[in-house]
Amino acid sequence: MKDEKIQILDKTFKPFIRHERIMETIDNVAERINTDFRGCTDVPVILCVLNGSIPFTGELLQRLDFPCQLISIKLSSYQGTKSTGTVLNIMGLTSSVRGRRVIICEDIVDSGNTIVALQEMLLDKEGASEVRICTLLLKPEVYDKPVKLDYVGMEIPNAFIVGFGLDYNEQGRNIKDIYVIEE
Ligand code: IMP
Ligand code: MG
Repeated sequence: MKDEKIQILDKTFKPFIRHERIMETIDNVAERINTDFRGCTDVPVILCVLNGSIPFTGELLQRLDFPCQLISIKLSSYQGTKSTGTVLNIMGLTSSVRGRRVIICEDIVDSGNTIVALQEMLLDKEGASEVRICTLLLKPEVYDKPVKLDYVGMEIPNAFIVGFGLDYNEQGRNIKDIYVIEE
């Protein structure tokens, strides 16, 4: 990782989590999921929450060693650096999950609005048989939902971050490492 700060639009960000550390975290999450699903007789669905979770889901998928199907959905609750509190379904599921076990793959859980609304929708409306939640990052100071998060990669303080899929107004998703905003 370069030690330099980076500029995205009007904000400055400083180095926060190195790519190598992100990979170790994903190794660890994958191992926990493999332990729970290895030898399964169904084909669980890995649900990528677009766009932020593309890099995470891509890395995770390569480490899973049971038969699984990749499906995507696009949701949005963020504008700039703040959560709007309303979760919008921008693009529906790319395939049905009826009767299937689903593992939601999120880049980050902040207030939890997105993940809780999504889990509810998958169970009540889409007919999934079980929904587990997997997130690379969690902001525990902000998360205030009673819903259990099954697989959490790493807990981070409540600060706005970019990189490895995470964006600031759609920019920064392509950065290999994760950077934190400089206040
Ligand atoms: P929640 O609904 O408040 O839990 O927000 C979750 C979504 O907001 C994530 O899927 C991200 O897309 C986005 N998000 C939350 N925190 C950050 C951040 O620090 N940087 C960039 N995006 C974030
Ligand atoms: Mg997201």
